[in-house]
This record gives sequence, C-alpha cells and structure tokens, in this order.
Amino acid sequence: MLVSGKELFQDAKRRKYAVGAFNINNMEIMQAIVEVAEELNSPVFIQASQGGIKYAGLEYIAGMGKIAAAKAKVPVALNIDHGTDFNQVVRCIRHGFSAVMIDGSKLPFEENVAITRKVVEVAHPNDVSVEAELGKITGVEDDIAVAEHEGLFTDPDEAYAFVQQTNCDALAVAIGTAHGVYRGEPKLDFDRLQAIASKIDTPIVLHGASGVPDDAIRKAVSLGVCKINIDTELRLAFAQAIKQVLNENPDEYDPRKILGPAKEAMKNTVRAKMQLFGSAGKA
Ligand code: G3H
Ligand code: ZN
Repeated sequence: MLVSGKELFQDAKRRKYAVGAFNINNMEIMQAIVEVAEELNSPVFIQASQGGIKYAGLEYIAGMGKIAAAKAKVPVALNIDHGTDFNQVVRCIRHGFSAVMIDGSKLPFEENVAITRKVVEVAHPNDVSVEAELGKITGVEDDIAVAEHEGLFTDPDEAYAFVQQTNCDALAVAIGTAHGVYRGEPKLDFDRLQAIASKIDTPIVLHGASGVPDDAIRKAVSLGVCKINIDTELRLAFAQAIKQVLNENPDEYDPRKILGPAKEAMKNTVRAKMQLFGSAGKA
C-alpha cells in the first residue's frame, strides 16, 4: 500500500531501525525492490531522482510507483530524491508522490530554510512527508555534483535551528558518506552523528550508503539513522549481471533474458540491505 513517508519515518524512529530507500529508473528496478520488500515483510521507500524522472518521464515513474505500491502488501512510500526545484517537487505531489526531498543544501542556510518551509507548506496538507538536507554530501548523484573539497559536514547546532525553523519530517546529514563509488573506505564521523541525534528528534537520513561497510551502517542505525539511501550498489548489480549474461551468451537478444537476471541480481542487493538495516519483518 502507498503510505506517507511520515509513517515510515516515525515507525523506524520508534522501533530503532532504518528503512531502505532505493532509486528507481525503470520497471525492473522497481519490481526488484518491491518484490523483496514483500518477501521480507519490510517497509520501503522507492525513489526517483530528478535525473530518473527526466529519463523515464514523471507520468511513468508516478504511474509505475503507484501501481507497485498499491499492489504491495507492505507499506511503500514514493519519494523524489534530491529535488532541487520547488515546482518539480510540487508536480511530484500532484502526481501522487507520498514523500518528497527538497535538497537546498547548496544554498545559504537561510535560503535552504526558506525553500524547505515552502515545500512543507504544500506537502503537509497533502499528507506528504518532507526530507531536507543540511551540509553537503560529496560525489555525484545524477545531475547534481559536489566536489570533495566543497563537502561540508552538518553542524549539530545548525541542524537544531534548521528543523525548528522548517518543521521538516527528516533530515539528511553530511557525516562523511559520498554518492557514487568510494575510492577508499569511507570514514563516518559518528561523534557528529551522535551530537546531531542528541539535538534533534527529527529522523536522520544517511545518503551515499552504497559501499559503506556493514558495521558502520549498523552503528549509524544505532545512533538514530532512520532512512538509508542506496543507488550505486543497485546500478553495479544491474550492470554486472547484464555484462555476465552477454559475455556468456553473446547472441542473446531477448530483453527479458538480459534484464531478468539483472533484476534477480538487484533483488539480492536489496535483500541484504533490508536485513542489514533492520527493516525486514517490520511491515
Ligand atoms: O540519494 C541517493 C543516495 O544517496 C545514493 O547513494 O550513490 O551511495 O548509492 P549511493
Ligand atoms: Zn543522496
């Protein structure tokens, strides 16, 4: 069933686990995520970035997302990931998204507050949750790039002021993770995470979680992370499976025989993450 992101955030916070949020660009990715959520009885966020929406079209993403959620026996929230444009976020709400992220992290603090408040004003009356971002998460997420030197960790006092002023439902923080493939092992600033968590009641979101070691993820969840975003690991699983099929069967030309194994590979990734995040069995 399609539910507001608010419901997922609140249950995760109360029962101390994290809901996985997986990026979708096409039908196979979406089916992989929702099928595993049902298999493991797990709540889940399915989310499309602005790039994903541009690629598939908003009507297709919204249509597929709503069908997948309606068919599912577990709670599913449909989210726009890293929305930077107010009008685009409003379009998503009009198309039935049950969660939105407004990423004003590149803006000065006051402007980030202002755009987040504006989104909250539209989203909340429609029972749509709002995730905001404070601090800059490095790396590339589709069309948004933040160079490493620009990366700016979230300040706990600013986080407190930000959630007070915006009334957002969740806050994405920068504590050392990055989007895309890591070059070395990521080092997370757990002291900072703990300090942020002690200042705010708002559920915390961890972006750039692909490639973060399992122990670090467990620790982050124990310190109050309630939503964890995974995109890159799904992409890698998808691409590797397709390469393997075509290497082993160079004459294959049936899309179902190429994308079917890719879907299975992504299901393995989603399965492992839901178990790691503690969301399995929580629906
Ligand atoms: O918003 C999406 C996620 O933060 C993606 O992170 O590149 O580590 O999978 P990832
Ligand atoms: Zn992200």
